[in-house]
Amino acid sequence: MTAGNRLARFASCEDFRRAAQRRLPRILFDYLDGGASGETTMAANIADLAQTGLEPRALRDVSSRSLDATFLGVRHAMPVMLGPVGSLGLFRAGSEAAAFRAGVSACLSSFAVTRPEDLPHGSGSDAFQLYVLKDRGRTGAILERVAGAGFGTLFVTVDTAVSGIRERDLRNGLRRITRPDLRILADLASHPHWCVERLRHGLPAMMLAEGWPEAGGTYLEQAAFLAGQIDPAFDRSGLGWLRARWRGRLVVKGILCAQDARIAVDCGADAVVVSNHGGRQLDGARSTIRALPEVAEAVSGRADILFDGGIRRGGDVLKALQNGADACLLGRAYAYALAADGEEGLAVFLRLLAAELDAAAALCGITSLDGIAKDRGNGLKPPVAGTTGSVGA
Ligand SMILES: Cc1cc2nc3c(=O)[nH]c(=O)nc-3n(C[C@H](O)[C@H](O)[C@H](O)COP(=O)(O)O)c2cc1C
Repeated sequence: MTAGNRLARFASCEDFRRAAQRRLPRILFDYLDGGASGETTMAANIADLAQTGLEPRALRDVSSRSLDATFLGVRHAMPVMLGPVGSLGLFRAGSEAAAFRAGVSACLSSFAVTRPEDLPHGSGSDAFQLYVLKDRGRTGAILERVAGAGFGTLFVTVDTAVSGIRERDLRNGLRRITRPDLRILADLASHPHWCVERLRHGLPAMMLAEGWPEAGGTYLEQAAFLAGQIDPAFDRSGLGWLRARWRGRLVVKGILCAQDARIAVDCGADAVVVSNHGGRQLDGARSTIRALPEVAEAVSGRADILFDGGIRRGGDVLKALQNGADACLLGRAYAYALAADGEEGLAVFLRLLAAELDAAAALCGITSLDGIAKDRGNGLKPPVAGTTGSVGA
């Protein structure tokens, strides 16, 4: 398919979402697309962003514009990063490597199938996402591995003390996919493109489970094992422990109120991510765009503020910047593009997003996105020395 044909087929995130739905077995599409319980928080992320207005401005010279933005100590071509999405490699083989080649920073999930050692990560802010485990020895070994692989930025996810209950996954029998019943077999058989690709590439394993024989032999067994290892006692002293061990940039992901933001920054976080895990954890939590101004005020320039939840368009990115974010993480949006059309699909989606962001900024009379952060008095943090992480004593 040519680039022009692709643009005609995929003109929005929703086009990619529908194509992903056609290509993926329902059991996997629902895992990607769904949220916790009644999915009200997931829906609120999108609805509240849609309700957030942009202010059009005329009579301004916007002939010269830039989408450049500085976050996590590095200058980027746009204020967007590919967030951690577990199981990307299950939706389409090679997706995690494709994300790291996409020309924007990316964060590898702990639930990834691709080894951190096998990924290119030259941008200086590519990151690894960690869950702190009950076994701190095992957690320390992960940190050593990630630092050894050259990653300089660590995201620690803090909104998963327990796993959210996802009704779609319960109904579809996600946990039984490796021992499928007739319904699951019919689902798989009616999505032959995905099945053929899977047969060609074999069943993936979770890369963190290398050397953990007790985690089981299939991806889902390993994922369930890892989920069971996440430490529900992880608190501010645990964060202090992590800060002392990790000498690279530390980003705390899953902050939704001022108090938690202050704790994270007081413990030495270089950035926080305003996130409710895309509505996949606590159903009933407020939307991230509602929480963002309060967190931005509490942080007040002491750390970078990243934002995610419901970003589907370039205009959504601008809304987040205007409400206090330095940059946005994409979640489902880029996973739909990869699942639908692989690396080329992701490239088309990122071009669309940049074009929409550029148009939205111009029509709001904005020529520099860095200017937005300065306008709201949230001075940019100077870069942290060194771009490679290392593990302290
Ligand atoms: C299928 C899927 C898997 C995810 N896996 C992880 C993960 O392993 N670690 C993590 O911190 N967040 C994970 N997230 C949450 C995303 O990083 C991000 O916070 C969320 O998707 C943002 O919401 P959005 O999808 O509406 O953009 C996952 C999200 C999805 C959809």
